[in-house]
Amino acid sequence: METPLKHVALILDGNGRWAKQRHLPRSDGHKEGAKRAFEIAQHAFQHWHIPFLTFYAFSTENWQRPKLEVSTIFRLLSMHLKKQRENFVKEKIRLHTLGDIAQLSSNLYATLMDIKQTTSQFTKYNLVLALNYGAREEVLRAIKLCTQVPSIIPSLDWNTFSRYLYTADIPDPDLVIRTSGEIRLSNYLCLQSAYSELYFTPTYWPDFNKEAFDLAIENYKKRERRFGNAE
Ligand code: IPE
Ligand code: IPE
Ligand code: MG
Repeated sequence: METPLKHVALILDGNGRWAKQRHLPRSDGHKEGAKRAFEIAQHAFQHWHIPFLTFYAFSTENWQRPKLEVSTIFRLLSMHLKKQRENFVKEKIRLHTLGDIAQLSSNLYATLMDIKQTTSQFTKYNLVLALNYGAREEVLRAIKLCTQVPSIIPSLDWNTFSRYLYTADIPDPDLVIRTSGEIRLSNYLCLQSAYSELYFTPTYWPDFNKEAFDLAIENYKKRERRFGNAE
């Protein structure tokens, strides 16, 4: 039986190689990639009625990149979010973030906080941005938070522990999609994806259009999920 698709989590990868292929600066890849993210989100909500969509937009490891590239990514995100603000309200889409967003540029932080607060009452559609997110940082943070409540430790179970993750109010991803041909998770939702279906495509993120997204969903629908059960 098909498990209903509640959450699709994407690793938006290949912006740099997309640009290189065209002899363009990496920033042009990020520019095109940011546009694609908002198009795919619209499509996932309107066409597929998927309640949760998560984009890995900036990892805790991405700080190693040149300062100019990092600030370009933040600037583009902030610009698109401001442009989309009205749309979030009109379409009743709630914005969430995963990761320590206070470390991002002040402009992006303020934009995120504003839209998160404005959309906090919406429930039907949820756009989740993993920003300055890393699964290892997330688990260490959760352990520190848990140990501040010593009474819960002796009988700690997954249900309780998972309340301390950034994803406390977000269901586990049913499907994780990574573009650009890399077959790895790169510190993305490692615990939450324990039973996720994984889908890898060689397409670079800026070329990942609605049809490519539909192919991934159709592929998911053919999978048999067992969660440890017998056939
Ligand atoms: C993904 O594209 C965007 C971010 C990580 C922010 P990349 O910038 O990693 O593109 P490649 O992997 O170098 O092609
Ligand atoms: C993963 O992509 C992070 C994001 C998409 C934000 P990377 O391009 O940073 O991952 P690696 O370096 O190829 O593992
Ligand atoms: Mg990459």
